[in-house]
Amino acid sequence: MRIGVIHGPNLNLLGTREVEVYGTDSLAEIDRRLAERARELDVEVTIVQSNHEGALVDFIQAETSAVDGWLVNAAGYTHTSVTLRDALAATELPVVEVHLSNILTRESFRRESLLAPISLGVVAGFGARSYLLGFDALTDHLRDSV
Ligand code: DQA
Repeated sequence: MRIGVIHGPNLNLLGTREVEVYGTDSLAEIDRRLAERARELDVEVTIVQSNHEGALVDFIQAETSAVDGWLVNAAGYTHTSVTLRDALAATELPVVEVHLSNILTRESFRRESLLAPISLGVVAGFGARSYLLGFDALTDHLRDSV
């Protein structure tokens, strides 16, 4: 089993970016923990971060046949990108949406997620742990569906 992990724009700045909102863990640290959890669960991961919408769409299209599901923090694109939503929906693979912060308690423009309607579920507000919780949920779902 392989999971495609997608980090959207500005997440490369984690650790120094708005630490009061996003915490002090760097993206490399989050990826390290995901890789560790993947080993524990005997799952493979392919991870991408990009600040470019088209690059994320290209990644999704290139990896669709290689992965079984998507763990996605689309960052700002969560609230704006029909394109990313369409790319994920076209894969017909399960999506779990994650956010470090609780987007439902923040500015009104963050309360809408274009990805939520095509996602199995959303984990938000637990900092870096949101990724691990989402990863476990997606893995469980994929194991249940075989
Ligand atoms: C975020 C929330 C988004 O609203 C924001 O644009 C981000 C990060 C989060 O993980 O909390 O860049 O996805």
